[in-house]
Amino acid sequence: MSAIRVSGCIPLKGEISIQGSKNAALPMMAAALLHKGLTVLTNVPRIQDTACMMKILEALGCSCIRRECSVFIDAGEIKKTQVPQEYVRSMRSSIILLGALLGRMGQGNCCYPGGCLIGARPIDLHLMALKKMGAVIREEDGIIEACAGKDGRLKGTEIVFSYPSVGATEQALLAAVLAEGVTIIRGAAMEPEISQLCGFLNNMGAVICGAGTKNLMIQGVRSLRDSAFRVEGDRIVAGTYGAAVMAAGGDVTLKGVRPSALKLPLALFSRSGGKVTVSESSGRLQATGIGCEKEGRIRISSKGPAGPLALKTGPYPEFPTDLQSPFMAFLAAGRGVSRIEERVFEGRFGTAGELEKMGALIRLEGKTAVIYGAGSLKGSAVKAADLRGGAALAVAALAAKGETVIGDCRHIERGYEDICRDLSALGARIQWIGE
Ligand code: EPZ
Repeated sequence: MSAIRVSGCIPLKGEISIQGSKNAALPMMAAALLHKGLTVLTNVPRIQDTACMMKILEALGCSCIRRECSVFIDAGEIKKTQVPQEYVRSMRSSIILLGALLGRMGQGNCCYPGGCLIGARPIDLHLMALKKMGAVIREEDGIIEACAGKDGRLKGTEIVFSYPSVGATEQALLAAVLAEGVTIIRGAAMEPEISQLCGFLNNMGAVICGAGTKNLMIQGVRSLRDSAFRVEGDRIVAGTYGAAVMAAGGDVTLKGVRPSALKLPLALFSRSGGKVTVSESSGRLQATGIGCEKEGRIRISSKGPAGPLALKTGPYPEFPTDLQSPFMAFLAAGRGVSRIEERVFEGRFGTAGELEKMGALIRLEGKTAVIYGAGSLKGSAVKAADLRGGAALAVAALAAKGETVIGDCRHIERGYEDICRDLSALGARIQWIGE
C-alpha cells in the first residue's frame, strides 16, 4: 500500500492549477449512459474513482477512452444492465447508474452499496424517488432489481426530498431526463456539482430548469445528442490546499476553480487569520444550467498559527462536510479553542485519533469536536482511514515539527490526482514512499 512522508514547518509558496472535480465528473460520466452516442468530458481528474467509473461503463457495453484529461464515452450499445458488484462496493456513487439504466434501458440491477467509515449512508431517498417515477424495485440478498414498469418508461411526477441528498438528487435527475412527462424535484441538493450536472445534461439536450435552487423541473425528452462539456475545478481539493496554507503558512495561488463555490470556507480562512483574495479568470466561460460561470483564482496567505473557529457542516451553501477534517487539521495546529459540529455524516471524526498521535488536543462530544489549538504539532506515524481524513493528515503533517509518515494512502488516491505533486509544487517536502 502507498504511504507518504512529509517534513513539516516549511511555508508554502507558488501557484498551482486545481484538478477537475471528482464529485462533478462521476455523475456526468454516469449520465453519458443516457445517450445512444458520444459524450466528451474534459478536465476529468485522473483518480481511482473516475477510472472505476470507466470500467463500469465498459462492463455495461460502452467504449471509454481517456486522452490526458479528456474522456470519450460512446454509449451507442448497452449490452448489460447489471452494475458489476465489485465496483459498487468500492465506489458508492455508482448507485446512481440505476437511474441512468432505468432511463435508457427501462431496467437496471445494482447491489446495495455498503456503508463506509464516515457513516451508514442509506439509499432510501434514492429508491423513494425511483418508485415515485413508477419503477418496480425488488430487493433480495443485497441486490436491487429495478424495472421501469409496463411500457418500459419512467413517468414524470413530483418528488419531495426530506433531506437535500446530493446522490438522491442526481439519481432523480438521471431518471427524469428521458422519462415521460414533467418531473418536479422539491428539496433538491444545491451543491455546485448538481448545478454543473444540470448544465451538462442541458448541453446534451435535456430540458432542466431551476439549477442552483431547491426546486428542479425536468421535461422528459425522447433522446439526447452528442456533446462535449468541461468539468469545473474541484472545490474540495482547492479547500484542502487552502487548509494546507493555514497549517504551514505561506502565500499560494490556486487556479481553475470558481471562488463562488467556496464562499464560506474562504470566509473562514480569513476569520482564522488568513488573507484571501479572489479573481474571476478572463478565460474559459462555461455554459452551465445557471448561465455562464467563469473559473478563477484564489490567493491565500497566512503568517502563523491559525486562530480559532466555530463551524457546522451542512448541505450547500452551508459548510461542506468534505472540508471538515482538513479544517480540523489546521485548527489543531493553531491557537485557541475551536468547535466543529458535523451534521451530515455521523462517523466523520475518525481522523481525530490520528491527529492526537501528532499532539493534537481534541475532545469529541457526540456530533461536536472541541479542538484545543496546540500551537504546533509533532511528526508521527499515522494512517489514513478515509479520503478526506487522509488528506487532512497531510495538512497536519505540513504544520508538524519533524517527519510524519502517513500510511494507507490509497484512500487519498481515490480523490486527489497527486497530492504530493501538488504540494511539492508549492515547496512542501512531501513524497510517496512504498509501505
Ligand atoms: C456526496 O455523497 C459526495 N460524494 C460526498 O463526498 C459528500 O460528502 C456528500 O455528497 C455531501 O455533500 C459524491 O458526490 C460522489 P448525501 P452522497 O446523499 O451523495 C443521508 C467525498 O469525500 N442520506 O448528500 O452519498 C446520508 O446518510 C465524498 O468526496 C439518507 O439518509 O451524500 C447522509 O447523512 C464523501 N438517505 C446525508 O444524507 C439517502 O437515500 C448526506 O448524504 C441518501 C442520503
